[in-house]
Amino acid sequence: MSVDTKIPAGVDLLEEINRLRVERKAVILAHYYQRPELQDLADFVGDSLELSKKAADTDAEVIAFCGVKFMAETAKILSPDKIVVLPDMDAGCSLEDSCPPEKFAAFRERHPDHIALTYINCSTEVKALSDVIVTSSSAETILSQIPKDQKIIFGPDRHLGGYLNRKFDREMLLWPGVCIVHEAFSERELIKLKQQHPDAPVAAHPECPPHIVDHADYVGSTSGILNFAKTFPGDTLIVATEPHIIHQMEKALPEKNFIGAPGADGNCNCNICPYMALNTLEKLYIALRDLQPRIEIEEGLRLQAKKSLDAMLEMAAGTVGKGDLGRA
Ligand code: 13P
Ligand code: SF4
Repeated sequence: MSVDTKIPAGVDLLEEINRLRVERKAVILAHYYQRPELQDLADFVGDSLELSKKAADTDAEVIAFCGVKFMAETAKILSPDKIVVLPDMDAGCSLEDSCPPEKFAAFRERHPDHIALTYINCSTEVKALSDVIVTSSSAETILSQIPKDQKIIFGPDRHLGGYLNRKFDREMLLWPGVCIVHEAFSERELIKLKQQHPDAPVAAHPECPPHIVDHADYVGSTSGILNFAKTFPGDTLIVATEPHIIHQMEKALPEKNFIGAPGADGNCNCNICPYMALNTLEKLYIALRDLQPRIEIEEGLRLQAKKSLDAMLEMAAGTVGKGDLGRA
């Protein structure tokens, strides 16, 4: 079904979205990497684990997911009776793209004595091939419940997997995927920035490569970084994750100074996630108006993928709100 993208002249988008969200009995969920205007009108803004839990628990009839496709698919897997719309169906993820299901299946077959612990940033098909899903806020809690002698495949983010291996002295086999956003931070430019702000701590997401994480005073998920921003004692913080999260920091602590870590050209704009940025107010309005683009998942695949997500939710119980991998 094609989506009519025409917006009649003179439409007040905010007013229409507010009318439609009531009419459709919709909940609007947004990730911290979304544009400020989408974060501001969402019913709930959170990290990947918090958003999964909200999607599983909601009694709304429609979930309008302002995030990327694997997040909206997770919502549909956990809440199959709801209509789940994603404002732009092209909002993908470089980690998901790095891990085609047939290649992941072959990798698993080559390591039959390993279980697959898989980062939520992957396709529904890869979730169906996995034993337990993790998010960056739940990975530590979940990994610590798996016996040390259990062999593990970790995909698709080699930086998160490598960080966990180093921190917990594990030898998980790593899939070679990366997040293009966190990969783009420049160590040379970060060192220059630290010299300009010698008292400012650095908070980094574990999707960053080790040469960035090694400079961090705090390493954690988006919600963990936000908690750190709300509690650190200084007045300036360097933030090594997608810069749209700074919107929440500036709202909570307008008197403090939050600086996005730079990319190679010294301009942090190159660290904006191009997939997350595809969602706009206009597209959210259309998604609520037309209930399209809609996430649909074949039932057999959904049930298979749900097993690894249920394992995550069970093993991560108690993690929500902590959002925290802690210091490297
Ligand atoms: P979290 O919000 O779970 O830390 O995930 C970050 C991310 O890259 C989402 O795409
Ligand atoms: Fe994927 Fe990175 Fe964008 Fe998150 S920030 S959606 S991991 S490309």
